[in-house]
This record gives sequence, C-alpha cells and structure tokens, in this order.
Amino acid sequence: MKMWSGRFRQPLDPEFERWQRSFEFDCRLLRYELTASSAHANALKAAGILSADDLINILQGLEQIGAQTASPGFLKDDSAEDVHHFVEMHLVALIGETGYKLHSGRSRNEQIATDLRLYVRAAIDQLRFDLAELCGVVTNRAEQAENAAMPAYTHLQRAEPVLVAHWLLAYVEMFLRDADRLADCRRRVNLCPLGSGAVAGATFPLDRSAMTADLDFAASTANSIDATGDRDFVLEFVNALSLLALHMSRWAEEMILFSSQEFGFVHLPESYSTGSSAMPQKKNPDLLELARGKAGRVIGDATTLLVALKGLPLAYNKDLQETQEPLFDATDTVVALLPLVTGWIKSVEFNHDRMQEAARSGFMNAWAAATYLVKRGFAFRIAHEQIGKAVQKCMEKGCELQDLSLHELRSLNPAFAQDFYECLSLTSVLAIHDVQGGTAPARVRQAIVLAKKRISAMLEEIHAHA
Ligand code: ARG
Repeated sequence: MKMWSGRFRQPLDPEFERWQRSFEFDCRLLRYELTASSAHANALKAAGILSADDLINILQGLEQIGAQTASPGFLKDDSAEDVHHFVEMHLVALIGETGYKLHSGRSRNEQIATDLRLYVRAAIDQLRFDLAELCGVVTNRAEQAENAAMPAYTHLQRAEPVLVAHWLLAYVEMFLRDADRLADCRRRVNLCPLGSGAVAGATFPLDRSAMTADLDFAASTANSIDATGDRDFVLEFVNALSLLALHMSRWAEEMILFSSQEFGFVHLPESYSTGSSAMPQKKNPDLLELARGKAGRVIGDATTLLVALKGLPLAYNKDLQETQEPLFDATDTVVALLPLVTGWIKSVEFNHDRMQEAARSGFMNAWAAATYLVKRGFAFRIAHEQIGKAVQKCMEKGCELQDLSLHELRSLNPAFAQDFYECLSLTSVLAIHDVQGGTAPARVRQAIVLAKKRISAMLEEIHAHA
C-alpha cells in the first residue's frame, strides 16, 4: 500500500512512478531508518499513542527487518517508493496492521533528515579513522627518512634543501586539517531532527530529548522548518571531502612528477602500478592518476549539491532527494581511496641518493650564502646582489658557489673568509632554518613527536565516539 494514495482518483503514470522512486539508492540508509524508527516508536509509547504490546511488536519487527538485510535479494524491491515505504511494507507484512501505527505523528521529511545525519556522522567517524591511519603511516615514513634531504621547490624550480621528513610532514598537516574540518562538521551534523514532523513539528507531544539520547545525538535541532528543509550538513561534509580529495590530488600529482625518469625521486611500487599493453618497458602510476582524477568527481558532487540547494524555498522539497546520490558518491569515492593511498605510501621507495644529490646542486645554498654576509653586518639587499653576482660567475664557469675561490669571492666582497665554505654545506644550510616549523633537523624531530601526539589524540577522540 502506498503511503499517500487516499486523495488521488487516478493512478500514477507508471513511468513517472518508477522514475521518482529513491529506494534504489536510499536502501543504503536502511539501518539508520530502523534505529531512528525504534527511537520514534519508544517516544510514541511514552506519549501514550502505542500500547506496550504495540511497542514490543514494532521493535521486534524492526529488528527482524534488520536481520534480513544481509539475505541476498532482500533489497531488490520494485514496489518500495523509498526506504521509509520499504520499512513500513515489511513491518506490516511481519506484524500486521500495527505496523501502520509507527508512522503516527511523524513525516518522511524528518526521517530522511535523520537518516542522512546518522549516515554522515558514521562516515565522518570512518574517514577520521582512515585519516589517522594515513597520517600515522606518513609520519613513520618521515621518521624513517632520518636526515635525508631533497630539494624543495617554489614555482617548481629548485628553491632550498629540506629534509624529506619535513616534506612528508607537510602532507600530514594537510590531512590533519582535513580530519579537523570533518570533526568540526560533525558538531553540526550531530543534531536530531526527530519530532520536527513534516515542517511544523510532530502532532503529538513527543519527548524529543529522549529520541535524541536514543540515537546518541548531542542535541535536538532547534527549528522544525529548518530541520526538515536543511541539507547544509550534507554540503558541508561533501565540501570537506572535496578539500580532502584535492589534497590527495596534489599529493598524487607531486608523486607522479617525482616518479618520472626526469626526477627519479620515487620508485613506484609494482603492487600499485600497471604496465602498458603496447610498450613493454612501461610502469604507470595508475593509483596516483586515479587519485588525481577522483578529486574532479568529488568536486563535481559538491557542485551538484550547491546548485541543487541554491534556489529552494523552505522547507522540504523533493529536490532534496537529489542530494543523496552525490553524497553517497563522494563518500564512497573517498572511503575507497584513503586506505589505498595509505597502502601506497607504506610501499613506496624513495631514491634517497638521487634526492640528496639534487639537494646539493642548483645553488640552493644561495640564500644561506647571503645570510653569511648579513651575519657580518651587511644589509640583506647588498648581500643578495653580491651572491647573485657570485651565482652568475658560477653559471659562466659551470660550477657551484662552493667551487669559487676565496680570491674570486673577495673580489665581490672582502668580508668572505674560509668559514664561508662551511656555511654552504648541505648540513649547515638545513641547520640554519632553525625556527619552529622550519627544516632544521632538531625542529623536524620535534615536529614528528608532535604529529604523533596529535594523531593519537585524534584516535582517542574517535574511539570515544565509537
Ligand atoms: N525519498 C524522499 C527523499 O529522499 C523522502 C522524503 C519524502 N518526503 C515527501 N514529502 N515526499 O527526500
């Protein structure tokens, strides 16, 4: 039986009927629909609408539906309009007419809002866990890299040497920010719409706090019109996923570059690469390329949501049904991607010799060289100019700054002395970046300790939710 056919004289056009259904995709909300329905049933009993027997029958029926979920074909259903209708039909089939009593005083508008909030909350907890894993693995790789160095780039031109660990920790920062954004989003997701009814509130004095507590939400939503018409939390979540996917994509792009023969910094793990059907020599970075490509898809999902929501008057409109698939798609995409990326990072090998070699050449000690003169009292602009001249000389001769003789250097500035050469070594260049957040090895060691602490604090928080 339909949930709404009474006032209609004509049946629906069959094609329209099929087309407007959402069960094919909202069936994945079934478990949330069942828990939320149990909470509603308890509240109906407390409000005197259901008898004790009704309640027991309904709760058992809901449980039975839950138990059947895993049986093959159970969710193949051509008669259900949506997950709410599906549950009602099955409940009535199991316990008879009492099943219809469950819908007393509630609307599918509050139900879908509740189911989606439960879904997003669970997805956030899963993703934060996966991000903690990922950050843990990247931090371990940073620790293993010890004092290995590499060039850091600005404008994709060699800029200054950094520790490989420092570079890896930059990604840890990005991913920790993503996790933090999800945690922040969770606060606004974690509110219970039950009791909001269709738009104006339930038609019985239901105890909203009890339903909120049953579903482990932090509080009830404050306004029934907003609660039933709002999908900000979906958009906010998918936006957070876009940023996360964007970070994955930047990471993937850099690894693709670094694995090219031209850079040769990264050996692609065979277990995550593919060959070419034509060129026998090829090893292609497919995981990385797909990671980069998936970002476009997630950003597309976020854009779909923005556009779907932008013109909607309050409160519930059927357009809101269109927010589900982009939400599921973005979630599935990122949930599948994170563990693969983590696996890739575990197995990738760095070509430390090549990175170290690259860190020593290309005048990446020029700023440190200018700093030498500044420490001897010269204005930075003058020092910059003189080292620039020294670089010019080197380029003519095809050598590096440390290959110039003292005589040549002193023709630029008589303050150059023997100790200048020491300050040009890779070790000293790294060491002078001795500020919090800089690449001096002692600072990076501190940063590793701190990153580990932040990751375990995050894991503790996630376990507290579980
Ligand atoms: N399938 C619907 C959705 O996803 C459920 C809510 C339907 N509400 C309604 N008034 N037709 O949005």
